[in-house]
Amino acid sequence: GDAHLITHALAKDTLSRLRDVETEQVAFRKGLVKLGRICGYEIIDGAMETEFVSIETPLAETTGERVKGLDNVVIINVLRAATPFVEGLLKAFPRAKQGVISAGRNEEAGMGDDGTFPIEIDYTKLPDITAEDTVIVADPMLATGSTMCAVLDHVLADNPEPEDLFVLSAVSAPDGLTRVAEEAPRADLLTVAIDDELNDEGFIVPGLGDAGDRAFR
Ligand code: PRP
Repeated sequence: GDAHLITHALAKDTLSRLRDVETEQVAFRKGLVKLGRICGYEIIDGAMETEFVSIETPLAETTGERVKGLDNVVIINVLRAATPFVEGLLKAFPRAKQGVISAGRNEEAGMGDDGTFPIEIDYTKLPDITAEDTVIVADPMLATGSTMCAVLDHVLADNPEPEDLFVLSAVSAPDGLTRVAEEAPRADLLTVAIDDELNDEGFIVPGLGDAGDRAFR
């Protein structure tokens, strides 16, 4: 349930380019792909076990080390801003199963007194999740946490508890992290940055604007 920062220098570098208002659509989308790849490597380095295996080089037998569990990874793409982010994650987890969930804030309804937005879920297609799986739910922005809470409800319903559950975002707001940690205490929250606050419209400040619009518009 705790929030952990991804502190790799390249993650910070890439996020800083994404924040920059001068970064246009193509560079923004490529930046999200790059950040996804770095975050994937960091998840592997920080959370996945390795095992020793014997291998034969062209010259001799030796002991090598392999990452365990790469065949039991499920990545959930929270449409739409997560699509380039997930493309990067797949470079770290090429054999991952993928789930897609279209969840969006009803902006017309506005932010409620409790600081949440109503979430509309239009489409879900999730693979079977087993108790051996490492599940990574990816969304570059975690603002009020309303979207992530709704997504986690779906992902955890009708499935056994996965071995590991990561909520991965690029930029998070403190309130959203607190909300997700309360509603999904089993999840490990990973983010590259925790920003100062949410404004009245529920946007992360300083943030990076609307990631979906900047990547796709
Ligand atoms: C953005 C973002 C998250 C959500 C975060 O998506 O990509 O999914 O808002 O906000 P929350 O933590 O307050 O729920 P948006 O609803 O703009 O949809 P989009 O990705 O399709 O642009």
